[in-house]
Amino acid sequence: MAITSWIRTFPLVQYLIAWTQEIFMSVLKTGPVPQHVAFVMDGNRRFARRRKLEVREGHSAGFESLAHILEMCYQVGIKVVTVYAFSIENFKRPTVEVDALMEIARTKLLQIIHHGDLADRFGISIRVLGQRSMIPPDVLAAIDKSTEMTKRNTTAILNICFPYTSRDDIATSMREIVTKSEKHELDPETIDERLLEQHMFTKDCPPLDILVRTSGVERLSDFMLWQSHQNCTVEFVNCLWPEFEPWRFGSILLKWSRSKAVEYRKMEMERDQKQL
Ligand code: FPP
Ligand code: MG
Repeated sequence: MAITSWIRTFPLVQYLIAWTQEIFMSVLKTGPVPQHVAFVMDGNRRFARRRKLEVREGHSAGFESLAHILEMCYQVGIKVVTVYAFSIENFKRPTVEVDALMEIARTKLLQIIHHGDLADRFGISIRVLGQRSMIPPDVLAAIDKSTEMTKRNTTAILNICFPYTSRDDIATSMREIVTKSEKHELDPETIDERLLEQHMFTKDCPPLDILVRTSGVERLSDFMLWQSHQNCTVEFVNCLWPEFEPWRFGSILLKWSRSKAVEYRKMEMERDQKQL
C-alpha cells in the first residue's frame, strides 16, 4: 500500500480530509458553477501495470475514482456529468478486458441505484448514451433497470457513454434526420446545427462547460467532438484516472469559476457603459 493510502486509513485523517473538502466546496459554491462537465477517464491500465495488478483491477480502481469525483460534482451543484466509460473502439481490446468492463458496468450500475447510494442521495437520473445494439443482454438489463428506476430524478444527470464515439453520435443524428425527412416529418431546408444537436445523444443537456482528460494524453479520442464548442474549456491532466483526486478537480473548477467571474464582470461593465 502506498504511504498516502496508508495514512488515509486513520479516522482522524479521514475526518480532516472530509472537513477540508467541505470548506473548499463551500468556497466553490460562492462563484459560478459549471452546468455540464465531461471526463475521459484515461490511464486505468497503466495504473494497473505500475502496481502489478490485473487490468480488471485497474478499471475497478477507475470506478472508485469516478464515484469520488461524481460525489464532488453533485455536491458543488454541477447539473450534468458525462463520462466516457466505453468507446466503440474498445471492442478491439482483448475479450477478457471487454468482459471485465462489461461486468464492472453491470454491477456498478446496479450498485449506484441502491437506496442511499449515489443516484438516490443526489437525485440523479442515469442515462446511457451510445449503441445499445452492441451491449450484451445482461448488461442491457442492468442499464434498463437503472435508467427506469432513476428517470423521475430531476436534480442532476449522469450520462454514461457506453459504447460511444462522437462520430457515431453525429452519424446517428444525421440518420434520424434523414428518416424523418423521408417521412415528410421535417423539411430538409430546416436542417441546421441546432437540428443536428436536437438529435444527438446529449440533446436535452446544457452546453458542455469543461472537458477533462487524465493520463497526460492530449487528444479527444472521438469524445464530445460536437459538444466541445468554442466556449468549452478542455483540461488535460497529467495523472492517471484512478489517481485523479477531488482536489485536482477542485483546482480545475476554481480556475474555471474565476475566469467566468471575470468574464461576467466584464459583461456587466460593458452593459452599464451602454446604459450611460
Ligand atoms: C480508459 O483507460 C478507461 C476505460 C476504457 C474504461 C473506463 C471505465 C470505468 C472507469 C468504469 C466505469 C463504469 C461505470 C458504471 C460508469 P485505459 O484502459 O485506456 O488505460 P490506459 O490509457 O492506461 O491504457
Ligand atoms: Mg487509454
